[in-house]
Amino acid sequence: MDFGPIMPSVPYIVKGIGVTIQIVAVSIALGFVLGIILSLFKISRIGILQWFGDAYTSVFRGTPLILQLFIIYYGLPQLIDYQISSFLAAVLAFGFNSGAYVSEIIRAGIEAVDKGQREAAMALGVPYGQMMKDIILPQAMKNILPALMNEFITLTKESALVSVIGVTDIMRRSYIVGGDHYSFLPPMLIAGVIYYIMVMGLTLLGKKFERRMKRSD
Ligand code: ARG
Repeated sequence: MDFGPIMPSVPYIVKGIGVTIQIVAVSIALGFVLGIILSLFKISRIGILQWFGDAYTSVFRGTPLILQLFIIYYGLPQLIDYQISSFLAAVLAFGFNSGAYVSEIIRAGIEAVDKGQREAAMALGVPYGQMMKDIILPQAMKNILPALMNEFITLTKESALVSVIGVTDIMRRSYIVGGDHYSFLPPMLIAGVIYYIMVMGLTLLGKKFERRMKRSD
């Protein structure tokens, strides 16, 4: 194995970091918004909303992410007669998928808040929306944030899947460099180091968050 010939291609691979980060950032934002809405559906007392929240989560967690990606990228154009870009397909698939996982994180986080808090707010006549915003959600954040960091890490690694629909992320670029040089091991190892450093960075950030939140106890 010789790293020499591919060294000039390292900057090309490194440029994929920006693409990977973009996909993960947009997906996590979409997933977070969806996750909040779905978790509120799940804890609501309206049957149809509950049903929708549960069904959504069940379907998106019960099928492979790559299938969801292919349905959106290759399948959707048959319905809407428009070929969406691979980037858009990627963030939609990852965002929708992440929404299912995040909704469970938030639901569990909310339900872990002592029910006395809710009872006290109701006894004081605090309206539902305000109770959620000012009393329940701030306390739930303590349970939610660390788990959300894990979701961040998961998405960062899973994002390598988008290389199969042609998004030029870290993974795709490494594959292209490997093909150009008939030598795959060096670029794959470089990709591995890049992903590992990104994940370690997020892990450290998560630990920092957790320490911060313990301090406020
Ligand atoms: N490998 C899993 C799948 O194919 C990925 C699940 C994505 N996980 C997540 N936390 N968003 O279904």
